[in-house]
Amino acid sequence: MRIDIITVSPELIKSPFEYSIIKRSIDKNLVEVHFHDLREYAINDYGKIDDYQFGGGAGMVLLIEPIDKCITKLKSERTYDEIIYLTPDALTLNQKTANFLSLKKNLLILCGHYKGVDHRVRELFITKEISIGDYVLSGGELGAAVLCDAIIRLIPGVLGDESSALSDSFQDNLLSPPVYTRPAEYKGLEVPKILLSGNFPKIDEWRNDQAMERTKKIRPDLLED
Ligand code: ADE
Repeated sequence: MRIDIITVSPELIKSPFEYSIIKRSIDKNLVEVHFHDLREYAINDYGKIDDYQFGGGAGMVLLIEPIDKCITKLKSERTYDEIIYLTPDALTLNQKTANFLSLKKNLLILCGHYKGVDHRVRELFITKEISIGDYVLSGGELGAAVLCDAIIRLIPGVLGDESSALSDSFQDNLLSPPVYTRPAEYKGLEVPKILLSGNFPKIDEWRNDQAMERTKKIRPDLLED
């Protein structure tokens, strides 16, 4: 998979790609990530990429022209399966969307900034709009990092144990059951006996029951789908 990210703050978004599972997936050539600094497409020599909004109101809006130039250049080099805009006024990211996007070959991600982008960018280029939650961040960069992490860990070969992505919370609309490791007893707190029993069908059953119970208690909305 190849992911291109257009941003006004490349330095802000780069570091999550330099550690742990994501870095290893890049080192193993399972994914390529390229950052594009929107300022390189500025409309003047002073690096202008934003302006006040028509109609008045606080906050700067990213201009259509630099974004058009950048997206048009990238689109001339390859075909994108999706052109994604990170913004709070969109459907919220969930596991289903991450699964869907993890099957794609080329993704282009545009990070919003300040008050957002000229709406015509969304009408002209964007095929998918994603929010990472009902709160407002200073820009789309952290959202893009979250989205990429959720997608990349699903690509075959990225996780050592392939089944572990499938047993994540949300893969079947259920929260994960609790997990434990050594020691079996700590300051009087004991690990549930069933997990030490070696009876794997029973352990599976216990995990399913726990997942259902926790989902009912913490996220009953997941069971409504
Ligand atoms: N940009 C600002 N807030 C955001 C959010 N909640 N999700 C995605 N992009 C954003």
